[in-house]
Amino acid sequence: MERSPNPRARSTQPDAPWQGRHLLGLEDLSAGAIASILDRAQVHAQHAAQSREKSQALKGRVVFNLFFESSTRTRTSFSLAAKRLSADTQDFSPTGSSLSKGESFIDTARNLEAMGADILVVRHPTPGTPKLLAENVACAVVNAGDGAHEHPTQGLLDLLTIRRAKGRIEGLTVGLLGDIAHSRVARSNIWGLSKLGAKVILCGPPTLVPRGWERLGCEVAHHFDDILPRCDVVNVLRIQFERQHAGLFPSVGEYSHFYMMTQERIKRARPDLLLLAPGPINRGVELTPEVADGRHSAILDQVANGLAVRMAVLEMLGGERAE
Ligand code: CP
Repeated sequence: MERSPNPRARSTQPDAPWQGRHLLGLEDLSAGAIASILDRAQVHAQHAAQSREKSQALKGRVVFNLFFESSTRTRTSFSLAAKRLSADTQDFSPTGSSLSKGESFIDTARNLEAMGADILVVRHPTPGTPKLLAENVACAVVNAGDGAHEHPTQGLLDLLTIRRAKGRIEGLTVGLLGDIAHSRVARSNIWGLSKLGAKVILCGPPTLVPRGWERLGCEVAHHFDDILPRCDVVNVLRIQFERQHAGLFPSVGEYSHFYMMTQERIKRARPDLLLLAPGPINRGVELTPEVADGRHSAILDQVANGLAVRMAVLEMLGGERAE
């Protein structure tokens, strides 16, 4: 968690799990800080299951969503999370903005800050953009996905989903399957899972698993059928065609033959296998429809937990905790 000399920074409550002003990546967070966010998110998740009553934690605060890439889950749930905390929330879309007249990204952000923004939630195709933003504004910045670098709230919601389903994270074996090379979700999962004591196996074709990632403490494998029986959890990552600049495998059909999660493969997995996929999912490419909708799948639980995680993050960065 980055610190910034923010003249407008409000004091956080004494027991705040982290004292920084931004959430840029899970690489920056300690295990204790991650666990504190998960604890708070779990409170929100349990509350949401019983009540739609809003918290007043961010009343009077302003949250801007700046999305320079497409999004369904992240943008919507940040917006809803802000509303559930009684913040004013506003989406900023680059399309139709004065960026087309040559205004810079930083000047754009400073103008939003001049309108009273307390938190800027940013998704951008260029890695490091949220950090650049954090260095140039006084308000809090949340990374909602920067290129192939990190997607910290996705990592947190994956951790929360695992912890709620399995009761723990430490000691579990988690397989990250597919396009590791282009996946910001993979990076945030690796940091978060490793810090909380899980074993991480990266599995995919050699062209989609970066060399040398054993250095991060991960096991690297290329034969999914070999590692599947050892996995407590498999997180199925999307093939990120939009970030690939060359053919990295012969065909989608060949990829699916070796790496698609099917009912046949489920039969060879642990009976209590937990299946995650960050979405969007491509049915028939990374997993079959039967598996996506089957009893091992926690895909929609992830989405529900995402709302709780984003409430916890916005609350911790922007306001006083409501008990
Ligand atoms: N998982 C995820 O980030 O989904 P969106 O791209 O729809 O936000």
